[in-house]
Amino acid sequence: MLPLGSCGVGVSDRSDLQDFSVCSSDSFWAAVARQRLSWIRPFHTVQDCDLSQGRIRWFEGGKLNVSVNCLDRHVHTCPERVAVIWERDEPKSEVKLSYRQLLEMTCRLGNLLRRRGVKKGDCVTIYMPPCPLAVASMLACARIGAAHNVVFAGFSADALAERIRDAQSSTVITVNQGVRGGKVIELKKTVDAAIQSCPTVQQVFVAMRTENPVVMTAKDVAMEEEMAKEDTVCEPAGMDSEDTLFLLYTSGSTGKPKGLVHTQAGYLLYAALTHRYVFSYHDGDVFSCVADIGWITGHSYSVYGPLANGGTTVLFESTPIYPDPGRYWEMVQRLKINQFYGAPTAIRLLLKYGDKWVHKYDRSTLKTLGSVGEPINTEAWEWYHRVVGQGRCPVVDTWWQTETGGICIAPRPADPDAEIVPGMAMRPFFGIKPVLMDTEGKVVTSNDTSGALCIAQPWPGMARTIHNDPQRFTETYCQPYPGYFFTGDGAYRSKEGYYQITGRLDDVINVSGHRIGTAEIEDVLNQCSAVAESAVIGFSHSIKGQGIYAFVVLKKSIDVQEADVTRQINDMASKKIAKYACPDYIQFAQRLPKTRSGKIMRRVLRKVVDSELEGLGDLSTLDDPEVVQEIIQGHHDLL
Ligand code: WT7
Repeated sequence: MLPLGSCGVGVSDRSDLQDFSVCSSDSFWAAVARQRLSWIRPFHTVQDCDLSQGRIRWFEGGKLNVSVNCLDRHVHTCPERVAVIWERDEPKSEVKLSYRQLLEMTCRLGNLLRRRGVKKGDCVTIYMPPCPLAVASMLACARIGAAHNVVFAGFSADALAERIRDAQSSTVITVNQGVRGGKVIELKKTVDAAIQSCPTVQQVFVAMRTENPVVMTAKDVAMEEEMAKEDTVCEPAGMDSEDTLFLLYTSGSTGKPKGLVHTQAGYLLYAALTHRYVFSYHDGDVFSCVADIGWITGHSYSVYGPLANGGTTVLFESTPIYPDPGRYWEMVQRLKINQFYGAPTAIRLLLKYGDKWVHKYDRSTLKTLGSVGEPINTEAWEWYHRVVGQGRCPVVDTWWQTETGGICIAPRPADPDAEIVPGMAMRPFFGIKPVLMDTEGKVVTSNDTSGALCIAQPWPGMARTIHNDPQRFTETYCQPYPGYFFTGDGAYRSKEGYYQITGRLDDVINVSGHRIGTAEIEDVLNQCSAVAESAVIGFSHSIKGQGIYAFVVLKKSIDVQEADVTRQINDMASKKIAKYACPDYIQFAQRLPKTRSGKIMRRVLRKVVDSELEGLGDLSTLDDPEVVQEIIQGHHDLL
């Protein structure tokens, strides 16, 4: 089969198509956009982009509605097909919704939002675990032309408040309580606490995930009750291709999270195309991405990609080890899952529990296994491939980011010559032209080399800007290598031309697949009353991928116990950010290694923690080389 042979661009095989998609990018994307999306009005310009200026526009002149593309057009052809399978926390209690049911739910909610004053261009914050009402909330926003801002339901009240304020939301949608791993999580209470410091918020829609009532205030709206009063038909707003579809906050190298802006047509097209071709998704398959909808992975591969393709998507509410480490595979057997997409951190965890939890269940429906979010080490890759996939399912290690909107580098299992090397993201997707840059900012043309990973030309799925801070967008992504999009990652290109991601080049770390800036954690530590200053670095962790190691200098004038400070730091990190932001190690130090100009030399701290004492490098700019010995000694004492 020639996967895109029908797109009408007249190429005969897949590698031709790859070349065509890059060299004749406009023709390629115009053809797929016409074929794959339903337009209210056709676009007149394929793209108008200038990466050096940070200007990115696709399919201008076109009008469409994303919810119509994800729902109505499938309701016309196959109303009873299952759109969503909600795998609830309680095993064996899944709920299925057809396309017709999901459209009705979305329309009722769209009408309710409209009736309660939400307008085109507003931004609604959604603070919910994965569930059909969360998907309907996203699609209802899309239906009426509002943008959504989904905040991961594991974030604290402070982190939620910061995102609501930046997005200037007047409406928040949440649930009374969440349920995860058998535990109840007080999500509504968290919203109540958050909105204390969010003057823009006028109403909070509360859906009932559990039967336990919660205190309702004047701002609160009982969501299901109100939805029941609404009509099941809701006129879709005609949206311009470049109207905002959603904001999604992610971490950068400063303390302030950035609200990346994704728009309508380009994003949807890119999510749909990557979903179909990276995973070899075919009509009738059951696709499961176990990421939370609060991350870009959940947006693109639990919601938009599968639904745009008329697929069946599984929403996973639980954890990999609840009620036991067989959960994923019991679910695969029960729901007859064909594609399974998960994170290396979970695979590494499950590997430690042994093969018996996998062998217990029938996995013969599986066709493709995906990995995302962080590098997958060879041992985890092999286990995923050999034990979970019985050696017969290709493992696709997919590299991408919140900024890229969808998968950019991944193996292509459907290719006739599909070679997959364990631990390598392998090859660019259609329309993607990766380049490596050397330290002088020049493109590296040879193979078997490493460099800073950039993408040489725009693609429809990329983020357009940072909400409220377009300048930061240009500075972060467009200016480091003018004319190129800079990813912040380093990569290696093999002799064969395959890519392997080597990790972040900036102060962003990846804890259990959660991206977090070390500066964000330092900000929190420095707010503790006894802390004078701190430095946070990532270190290699056998399950989390990276762990958090904090160096803390206490104020001399304050008399405190280190154990008390440790407790305070953990409380603060959970309260200000999320539980995963708590340091694994806290090393109390008298002082930190600094340059004469006062910059903390993190490189030295990293080397000490990685036990690479021979490779400390040039220490001549250090203010006082003695500090290094103190740090080494302190590290030694801590372990
Ligand atoms: C960062 C993006 C991609 C959606 C989920 C995370 C790292 C992502 C891989 C991979 C090695 C990876 C990168 C990237 N990353 N996928 N397959 N191999 N590293 O999205 O939170 O925006 O994080 O995750 O460092 O820049 P995100």
